[in-house]
This record gives sequence, C-alpha cells and structure tokens, in this order.
Amino acid sequence: MPLPNDLSEKTTIVVGASRGLGRGIANAFAEAGAHVVAVARSAAALGDLADAAGLIRPEVGDAGDPTVTGTILDRYDPRVVILVAGASPLLRRLQDHTWETFSVNWDTDVRIAFHWLREALLKPLQPGSKVIVISSGAALNGSPLSGGYAGAKSTQRFITSYAQDEANRAGLDITFTAVMPRITPMTDLGRPAVRAYAARSGQSEEEYLRPMGELLTPEAAGTALVELARADAGTVAHSYLLTGAGVQALT
Ligand SMILES: NC(=O)c1ccc[n+]([C@@H]2O[C@H](COP(=O)([O-])OP(=O)(O)OC[C@H]3O[C@@H](n4cnc5c(N)ncnc54)[C@H](OP(=O)(O)O)[C@@H]3O)[C@@H](O)[C@H]2O)c1
Repeated sequence: MPLPNDLSEKTTIVVGASRGLGRGIANAFAEAGAHVVAVARSAAALGDLADAAGLIRPEVGDAGDPTVTGTILDRYDPRVVILVAGASPLLRRLQDHTWETFSVNWDTDVRIAFHWLREALLKPLQPGSKVIVISSGAALNGSPLSGGYAGAKSTQRFITSYAQDEANRAGLDITFTAVMPRITPMTDLGRPAVRAYAARSGQSEEEYLRPMGELLTPEAAGTALVELARADAGTVAHSYLLTGAGVQALT
C-alpha cells in the first residue's frame, strides 16, 4: 500500500516543462514514480522529454490561456501542480525599456499563476493536493536590469498566499506554497541574466557567481521539489528560497 505522501500512482502537472528548471522537475517526479503531465508550447521539446517508463505525458498549450488551464485540470485531476513557466525578461536599464518589454512577466508569469491558482480553488483540487508556484529570489532583492520581473515574481508570491488564505477560509485541504530560486546560469533564462548582471557590476561571470555557493541545476530543483511535494502539509511554509543546496523556508 502506498504511503500517504508517496507520489507514485498520482498525477503531477508541471507547467513549463520543456526546458530549464521545469524539465528537471518533470524528470525528477517521473523518477519518483509520479505520472507527470508536462505542459509547454513547444511540441518538439516536450516530445523528447517523454521517458522510457512512459510516465511523462506531454500536453502542448499556452498555460496563460484559461481554456488550456481548465481543460488540463479537468482531464488529469492532479494531486500536485507545479507552475514553473515564465518569460525571459529583456535585460536592459530601466530607461531602455518600453512598457511592452517592462511588463512581459506580468503578461506571462503573473497571468499563468492567476489562472491556475484560480482554477485550483474553483474546481477545487482534491483534498491533500499541493500547488507549488516558482517565483524568484529577485522578488526579495529586486532585479534592476529586468524591467518588471521582480515585481511580477513578487506578485506571484502574494497571490499564492492569497490562494492559501481562500482555501483555508473555504475549508479546502489544499496546500499552496511559493518557491524562489536563486539566479543560475544553467538555463536559457538564467544564462543571459548572469552575463548582464556580472557585466553591470564589472565582474566576470565566475566572480559574480562565487558568493552564491552551490549553483542551482535543473536536477537539484527536481530533487528539492519532490521532497517538498512529499512533505506533510502541516510542515509546508508559505514560501522558500531555492539554491543548489535545496529549499530553505522563508519567514
Ligand atoms: N533560471 C534562473 O536563474 C531563475 C531564477 C529565479 C527564478 N526563475 C524562474 O524559474 C522559472 C523557470 O525558469 P527557467 O530558467 O527554467 O526558464 P526557461 O529555461 O526559459 O524555461 C521556461 C519554461 O516555461 C515554458 N513557458 C513559457 N511560457 C509559457 C506559456 N505561455 N505556456 C506554457 N509554457 C510556457 C517554456 O516552454 P515553451 O517555450 O516551450 O512554452 C519553458 O519550458 C521561471 O518562472 C523563472 O522566472 C529562474
């Protein structure tokens, strides 16, 4: 008989699974025996994610489209939902942004979090379910070359806590938490950001990254998220910092 926090035989939806942190997370959940639904827009990248054990099922769609959200949640009735998808911000000084480039993460990251959190409450997800939103360490520290990125990621953290509050008020046994990864050059989004912030501070990329310690990899993100999904609901904090060494609860 499976343990209560055993992920096997249960469905985990990973939104933004075609590359980067989301791909590492999808692979880690499949290795833990979960049935994984991997959502992203690029069919080719999702296609070669499908694992040998057949535990990863691709779903091609725009996660910012509420029809896609509702359809996927109805189809798979997941116990774990992980929102990783986000846009790469354009890296330039504040005065070099237009409103359109400044607001790209509001129109993608915040939009996606809003639709999925809303649907998770309205459906509602089954008792005991967990929803994990990948925000960013930038939400704590700012990101002066990334336009509205830090504010958008901070809003993701806020609305995750609003969702927890609404779930509690409605007596729904659903856990919502936000995870804030530290910047890493191991993904398509992080690599140019490390380059730009290192250049702005007059350092090499190595010098810029050295104080950050162990770098976050997609594999390390996967291991940390599996642990978080397996944790007893009563022990889950409202948000976490995520580094190469794992998650650390924020107060
Ligand atoms: N890397 C870092 O240093 C870092 C640090 C802190 C926080 N984060 C956050 O961590 C998350 C993942 O970052 P990453 O570095 O792994 O980024 P990435 O390598 O650029 O991957 C982004 C993923 O999101 C998907 N995606 C984007 N828009 C989508 C949409 N509308 N619908 C469905 N899927 C969508 C992409 O797939 P398709 O393009 O195929 O749709 C891709 O799978 C982001 O929320 C980011 O803000 C990253």
